[in-house]
Amino acid sequence: MRTGSTLALAATALISLGASVGALPKVSRVGKYLYTDSGDRFFIKGIGYQTQGIIVSGPDNPYNQPSTFVDNLADSAGCARDLPYLHKLGVNAIRVYSANSSLDHDACMSALSAAGIYVILDLTLPLNGSIDTTLPAWSTNTLDQFLRTIDTFEKYDNILAYNVGNEVVSPSATQAAPFIVAAARDIRAYLNSISSSALVGYAAIDGSSTFVDDFADYLACDHGSGGGALDLFGLNNYEWCGAAANTTFNALNARYANYPIAAYFSEFGSENCSPNPRLWTEIPVMFSTPMTDVWSGGSAFGYFHAISRGHEFGMATISADNTSVTTNGDFDNLAAAYKAVTFVTTPAKGSASAPSLPACPASNGTGWSVSTKLPPTPNDAACDCLANALSCVFNPPTPDYTVLVGNLIGVACGLVDQVGGSCDDISANGATGVYGAVGMCDPTIKLSYVFSQYYELNHHAPAACSFSGNAVINTAAGVAGAQGAMSSCIPSPAVITPSAPPVLVPGAGNKNSSSASGNSSGGGGVTNAPSGAIGTRGAWVGVSAVLGCVVGAAVWTLA
Ligand SMILES: *[C@@H]1O[C@H](CO)[C@@H](O)[C@H](O)[C@H]1NC(C)=O
Ligand SMILES: *[C@@H]1O[C@H](CO)[C@@H](O)[C@H](O)[C@H]1NC(C)=O
Ligand SMILES: *[C@@H]1O[C@H](CO)[C@@H](O)[C@H](O)[C@H]1NC(C)=O
Ligand SMILES: *[C@@H]1O[C@H](CO)[C@@H](O)[C@H](O)[C@H]1NC(C)=O
Ligand SMILES: *[C@@H]1O[C@H](CO)[C@@H](O)[C@H](O)[C@H]1NC(C)=O
Ligand SMILES: *[C@@H]1O[C@H](CO)[C@@H](O)[C@H](O)[C@H]1NC(C)=O
Ligand SMILES: *[C@@H]1O[C@H](CO)[C@@H](O)[C@H](O)[C@H]1NC(C)=O
Repeated sequence: MRTGSTLALAATALISLGASVGALPKVSRVGKYLYTDSGDRFFIKGIGYQTQGIIVSGPDNPYNQPSTFVDNLADSAGCARDLPYLHKLGVNAIRVYSANSSLDHDACMSALSAAGIYVILDLTLPLNGSIDTTLPAWSTNTLDQFLRTIDTFEKYDNILAYNVGNEVVSPSATQAAPFIVAAARDIRAYLNSISSSALVGYAAIDGSSTFVDDFADYLACDHGSGGGALDLFGLNNYEWCGAAANTTFNALNARYANYPIAAYFSEFGSENCSPNPRLWTEIPVMFSTPMTDVWSGGSAFGYFHAISRGHEFGMATISADNTSVTTNGDFDNLAAAYKAVTFVTTPAKGSASAPSLPACPASNGTGWSVSTKLPPTPNDAACDCLANALSCVFNPPTPDYTVLVGNLIGVACGLVDQVGGSCDDISANGATGVYGAVGMCDPTIKLSYVFSQYYELNHHAPAACSFSGNAVINTAAGVAGAQGAMSSCIPSPAVITPSAPPVLVPGAGNKNSSSASGNSSGGGGVTNAPSGAIGTRGAWVGVSAVLGCVVGAAVWTLA
């Protein structure tokens, strides 16, 4: 154990560090390798850098993911405190799991750049800020969140890559795969349109070799537009444990020998065996041949203290007043291992060949249920057009409506089904490759679409547009009805280059507030929706508790 310097000392170290280093070279991918613009092979010698969020268990959090996050890149004092330690570790990159596009990251990003440290930034946020594992969609709200984050970070010279997801696709939920590839495709197109050189990455969960390899091939294969959307395949790999044999990665290495894009270990460093502290003996192996023929380094997990599945990770403990750092034996061993690394220089940039793309693995129905057909690009203009033309629109009584929307979609789909409608238009099915035209829209617009169908199928009876006070009639709606509006606003969903996202309205989330013009403060004498499905008005907690089983059914309707 070693107690660290005070904040003032850290800041001094940061300044002297900054003075000695120049601007960071761009890094690009040639085939399966990364190179700096001066032609040197580039490896990621990284560490995960994000304070662990607080896990709030509940029905909206089936995987017990952190529900909150700290934006460490917006914490300039924290960055100044940690920079001398990142320098001691010898890292050239940090992996950051979430950032808030509304905050200022200038101080931290430029301090990292001055210290020669790149950032691999996940574009996702906890809970609803990611493509969902079990009910996946690639929709305007998620696209816009990703684009806002890119717009915030694109001005920095040390963004190495943007990740479009972390462990979204799992062996028990493979149908999310087309949405991940569509996200990579559209983010790649957007980055090209703003002349960004940032790489596009994804961090995959490890598992059986058949699953991991099928998914890796699916990420890299040609989905009809030439492939090449994804640059960086990350594998969160905890295979090497303690003083493992040097042959530990041999099988993995052989499997990826002909993989056509850059690959790295987006997390590594198992805590799941003795000895403690971790030895990091995988590092000399990872950074020498034959590993370097296939892999471009990795990001050790992680800097801050974190607990996962009963194991404690982390090598820096921050004092209660946030001003000082205490490091542990993991830190010392990692620093020694990273310091001893010399980058392999072969193959030279000019002689790097690009292996041919793998075939897209076909759905086999038992463990890999994935269509090779991708969903279209989410289109804000088309979805806004639809939102404004709908007759019965979602008007939440709370600004925190994520869970409410999910539950109400389940309820409304059940109701609309009973009166001869369907939720096909809002569904997106990655297993069959059938994507309803409204599937690319924000969940609130999908909900309004179903509300409107129900209201119209009930001959515009005012009581059919209440949904316990969560909906209001839009008197400005056209006469074409929900499906007519869909046909005219979204005539043919397509792959396009996304444009800059709409301006975020404070307090309104990403929802287009112009369509929600109703009165959310009272029921106004309008009765509940028919069928008694919605018993109580008010807070989402009550709705989700009452309707648990209906929502369960909805998973099948929409999956
Ligand atoms: C981002 O920061 C703003 C300003 O502090 C805050 O209002 C907003 O809730 C934050 N967003 C997220 C997703 O945490
Ligand atoms: C289908 O693919 C999955 C994932 O790659 C694999 O685990 C499973 O064994 C395959 N099933 C058959 C019958 O090949
Ligand atoms: C394992 O590989 C590393 C890196 O090549 C080498 O330094 C070390 O001596 C090897 N260990 C054994 C036991 O062969
Ligand atoms: C220390 O920083 C964390 C975020 O990393 C913050 O939640 C906490 O309030 C801070 N504590 C103090 C005393 O400033
Ligand atoms: C909402 O949609 C309307 C109509 O399409 C558009 O004029 C307006 O700019 C949008 N507002 C935001 C904040 O995107
Ligand atoms: C997540 O939900 C909140 C409201 O609960 C909303 O403001 C925000 O826009 C949502 N984010 C995404 C990406 O859908
Ligand atoms: C909303 O409806 C309630 C009940 O009818 C009414 O008292 C209130 O004035 C309305 N508020 C607005 C902003 O229209």
